[in-house]
Amino acid sequence: MTMQETLRDLQQRALPEIQQTEHPEALEALRVKYLGKKGELTAVLRQMGSLSAEERPAMGQLANQVREEVEKALQSAGEILRAAAQEKKLAAEALDVTLPGNAEGLGHMHPLTLVRRRIEDIFTGLGFQIADGPEVETDYYNFEALNIPEGHPARDTQDTLYFTDSLLLRTQTSGVQVRTMEKLGHDVRIICPGRVYRSDAVDATHSPMFHQIEGLVVGKGVSMADLRGILELFAREMFGENTRIRFRPHHFPFTEPSAEVDVSCFACGGKGCRLCKGEGWIEILGAGVVHPHVLRACNIDPDVYSGYAFGLGLERVVMCRYGIDDMRLLFENDVRFLSQF
Ligand code: DAH
Repeated sequence: MTMQETLRDLQQRALPEIQQTEHPEALEALRVKYLGKKGELTAVLRQMGSLSAEERPAMGQLANQVREEVEKALQSAGEILRAAAQEKKLAAEALDVTLPGNAEGLGHMHPLTLVRRRIEDIFTGLGFQIADGPEVETDYYNFEALNIPEGHPARDTQDTLYFTDSLLLRTQTSGVQVRTMEKLGHDVRIICPGRVYRSDAVDATHSPMFHQIEGLVVGKGVSMADLRGILELFAREMFGENTRIRFRPHHFPFTEPSAEVDVSCFACGGKGCRLCKGEGWIEILGAGVVHPHVLRACNIDPDVYSGYAFGLGLERVVMCRYGIDDMRLLFENDVRFLSQF
């Protein structure tokens, strides 16, 4: 091949090769291959020395033309590749602001928690503090100190799981009364919400685990009248302005006198309906004046100090309040049920 043919051949191979390149690195490799210091064009130019003085200018001109053509092709191919890359990047980063967002499914409180918190709010507003006690309790705090000695019939109605002869799952929150009086003495104003356990079969109104809220006030001159006043306030806050309460005589070993306490039905206002089973009243708690035996067990002199106590079943209040007719719904954790509150 003459030098002229070599130059034309170089151009003819280089231009399509450059135009078909798809990657910037490949384009750079072509630049090196054709125009680099060890490239093909440089190799041709090195042979210029062997030409005659007449041939040289024309050949130089041709070589420059070829270089320009190749450079032009490299530049425009480079621009096309850069534009394509930019377009691809923009497409990948594109954000459709008209798409709706993904809403986060927010959880919420269990109805038992909702009502417990409401009750806690009411009593803390009345100056009560919230106390706590262990669910694994001793026979002493669960029974003995509450005036329920061994062999007492009240034990039969509160069977539970025993770990040892004297260690059990508490059957009532009343044990916290004793623990609190041991700690605070004769100046007490507490409620104690918590889980309790009984060996009951599961049905619509029974569960081997449920919740109580215990209340206790001890001081000088604390009476049944104070108990009635506080429970009336509570009932009105909890169930509505027009709610009335009524005390029915009852027996609890740790209070004397004792009462079961009903609230006027908040569904029918006392006329009698399905919720109150025609009674007009709904029983919600047990209460009474703390028995002298219990005070003495806590080293409190019953001739100087007195107290009242009450115990409320949380499930019962929740079920009445929301018209739930089966307690099992509260523990099955079916979100279709729970999402209604
Ligand atoms: N502990 C009782 C129960 O589980 C409820 C109760 C009744 C608690 C009267 C009291 C009370 O503090 O004075 O049935």
